[in-house]
Amino acid sequence: MTASINDRRAVSRRAASLGAAARAGPRSSARFDPDRFVAECREANEADGQAAVEEALARAVSDHPAVLAALGEPREAGLNVLLRSPTLTIFAATWTPQMNLLPHDHHMWALIGIYTGREDNIFWRRTPGRLEAFGADALFAGDVAGLAADAIHSVTNPLQRFTGGLHIYGGDFFATPRSQWNAETLAEEPSDGDVVRAMFARENERLRRRGEL
Ligand SMILES: [Fe+2]
Repeated sequence: MTASINDRRAVSRRAASLGAAARAGPRSSARFDPDRFVAECREANEADGQAAVEEALARAVSDHPAVLAALGEPREAGLNVLLRSPTLTIFAATWTPQMNLLPHDHHMWALIGIYTGREDNIFWRRTPGRLEAFGADALFAGDVAGLAADAIHSVTNPLQRFTGGLHIYGGDFFATPRSQWNAETLAEEPSDGDVVRAMFARENERLRRRGEL
């Protein structure tokens, strides 16, 4: 069972960035088939929930060059939704260079598997009247992190290039009302799928104005 965020770190963690696929170089001979991956995750979720889906995700991103080849080099911030169902949501999320996401929760378990770039996570917990940061993790291509249903995290792409990750949630990510916290005041605000989509649109607009898209 994944421990509660309030007990310790929010995550189970698999470091695979320097695994066989990475050492083999940027090209992979294997193919990543998004439809097959979705089917594997659905089966795994029905059989054993988050732990089993995490195995499927770890297998997929252990060959991150194949995932990148199938999904394409990221060129803007976006969510490529591979599955949306009441019990499972799967999408590829792409972060623009140095993009930041506010602290937010999910109200369902989550998994992150990086297939290109790097994603830095800060983990937060509720204290009386506000949030406090209590942990951090840097995820590289091939790494997988599992977040408990009560996890709160903020995300940064620290690189000057795009980051891409497969994100999996144990519910309908887009239909679930959630919270986010103001970056400066840590005031709690409502969030949901529409708020997230609007944030991605603003980020792309920011880069367009700077001539980087
Ligand atoms: Fe998140």
